[in-house]
Amino acid sequence: MTATTIAKYSYADILKDAAKINWQVKDLIGADKPLDFSKPFLPEALAHTRAITCLTADEQLVLNHIRGNSYLHLFGLVEEFILPLVVEHVQSIGCVNIEATQAYLGFAEEESKHIHLFRQFAAAFAAGFGHRCEVIGPASAIADFVLQHSPLGVALVTLHIEWMTQRHFLDSVRNHQGEPLDPQFCSLLKHHWQEEAQHARLDTLMVQDLARTLDTAAIAAAVDDYIAIIQYLNEGLKTQVQLDLISLERAIGRNLTATDFSDCKSARHEIQQIQEKSYQKVFLSSGMTHPNFVESVQALSREGFAKISAIAAQFS
Ligand SMILES: [Fe+2]
Ligand SMILES: [Fe+2]
Repeated sequence: MTATTIAKYSYADILKDAAKINWQVKDLIGADKPLDFSKPFLPEALAHTRAITCLTADEQLVLNHIRGNSYLHLFGLVEEFILPLVVEHVQSIGCVNIEATQAYLGFAEEESKHIHLFRQFAAAFAAGFGHRCEVIGPASAIADFVLQHSPLGVALVTLHIEWMTQRHFLDSVRNHQGEPLDPQFCSLLKHHWQEEAQHARLDTLMVQDLARTLDTAAIAAAVDDYIAIIQYLNEGLKTQVQLDLISLERAIGRNLTATDFSDCKSARHEIQQIQEKSYQKVFLSSGMTHPNFVESVQALSREGFAKISAIAAQFS
């Protein structure tokens, strides 16, 4: 064994905290809880629409809604590979530590509930937005690619995503002073975050468990798997930016490819540049640089941490 252990989390504490959270999908979304399209869905720190000079304030709001839709779509996508990872882990650990078994089963049940929630959101968004929005997928193809990799590599991606979710909510959504966000959308984020707080700790334990029997070479291979999946997701995010542009043109009814002769750049070019940076910062660097993710990676491998840090710097 080469990895060191982080001993700050226990299955008993996680089970106790999980028992305090008890919401159902129907409590958060439905005909009696409409989305308010007069307000932004995402805070500026997660949407980065206000610096786009070629869009009017109304058009920036439309792009914010498109980003809100893709934000939850992307969570739904990744949860479709997190769920089988967790189910496989429960099967592998059996019933020796029954609190661990119970905690991971709760994790899997909650992720399946989140997939349901985000599908319900997608239907409500489609009904309220009034224009078709393009999103990457299908989720099954992405899950097939990701799950070809080692369980520890996939668990590291999951750990990244779980801590990233914590960072998004705590840094940008919980205290969104001065930003009149749609309360319904914020409620979805808040309830999702409440359960993800347990998942982040469970995944820390899962990463340790999976690494326990691996030698240095196998851990290095898992870090390479993590990096390969991150690069794959980066390509997916770039594709999502292109799809957002199509959705935006359709929703605002104007062609964004016309060139502004003052700087020879099209509106499309400006939006693409800002939004690619935004997606990379929000979905990649914010997970790769989260202190708790960093702590887990450093405990596995100093060389692996150096590799991941170098890539994270490209996405900041
Ligand atoms: Fe989730
Ligand atoms: Fe989760």
